[in-house]
Amino acid sequence: MEATDTKDLKTGNRLPAARTTLAVRTEFLTKRFAALVAVNRVSLGVPEGTIFGLLGTNGAGKTTVIKMLTTLLAPTEGNAEVAGLDVVKEPEAVRRRIGYVSQMLSADGELTGYENLLISAKLYGIGRADRAQHIAQALKFMELSDVADKLVSHYSGGMIRRLEIAQSMLHRPQVLFLDEPTVGLDPVARRAVWQRIRDLRNEFGTTIVLTTHDMSEADELCDIVGFMHVGRLETLGPPAQLKAELGAEATLDDVFIHYTGTSIAERGGYQDVARTRRTAERLE
Ligand SMILES: Nc1ncnc2c1ncn2[C@@H]1O[C@H](COP(=O)(O)OP(=O)(O)OP(=O)(O)O)[C@@H](O)[C@H]1O
Ligand SMILES: [Mg+2]
Repeated sequence: MEATDTKDLKTGNRLPAARTTLAVRTEFLTKRFAALVAVNRVSLGVPEGTIFGLLGTNGAGKTTVIKMLTTLLAPTEGNAEVAGLDVVKEPEAVRRRIGYVSQMLSADGELTGYENLLISAKLYGIGRADRAQHIAQALKFMELSDVADKLVSHYSGGMIRRLEIAQSMLHRPQVLFLDEPTVGLDPVARRAVWQRIRDLRNEFGTTIVLTTHDMSEADELCDIVGFMHVGRLETLGPPAQLKAELGAEATLDDVFIHYTGTSIAERGGYQDVARTRRTAERLE
């Protein structure tokens, strides 16, 4: 196949050639909420098996991009493919191939870990014969087998996040979307989640798309990061490359500040902050 190098006219980002197998591909992806352009002509490609970090200020549009990629929100303009399928034309086929952990907590505290997984298994249409095996494997993989029969309301924040990832991987998705998977977690719990994410990629070849506000986390965990600011994708590349472009001593924090202006959110209003805090508080 001919390599078709396209360039996003707005950002100048070079998109990967078409022959690279891309787990996620967007072209000029745009979402407007009335007068607000939440996502503005974002073009990006995420190769299969990559851990990709979508970074940027509060209100930059990260969650909105993820909601379009997971078929929860319809794009206003542009297009997006996940696992080679158009998110607008084939939403059901896309849903079968992806997992999603939202920014808000989604596990039910009144149920046990096992019961939460059973609900997810039914939702994902995993047949009765396969359910027990898929659930046992996900529990083992996320190191939750010992607490499977405990109420989730007694779990620590790190255990809840790992349970949610277990729920999202039950059907063995090709692409996993994790919106702020480590917000509110202590450093040890955070590292445990990182390791599980790495293992998912290494053992199953899962492509991971995650968001985080922690630049050291993104630096350590992600193969490629993209920086968003006020709806636009400002730059994209491996952390080492983006840092080197700014100078020998640059950190990913410096890259963040360079592409997003200041570290003070310009658009993230009270609601964004309050929502993130609520998620963080519930995890404590
Ligand atoms: N359903 C909606 N209706 C109207 N505006 C919305 C809606 N969802 C998001 N927005 C707005 O779109 C912009 C992008 O929001 P989004 O949640 O995608 O940002 P984010 O990068 O995920 O921010 P954070 O880091 O705080 O999670 C914000 O200004 C937000 O207030
Ligand atoms: Mg968000």
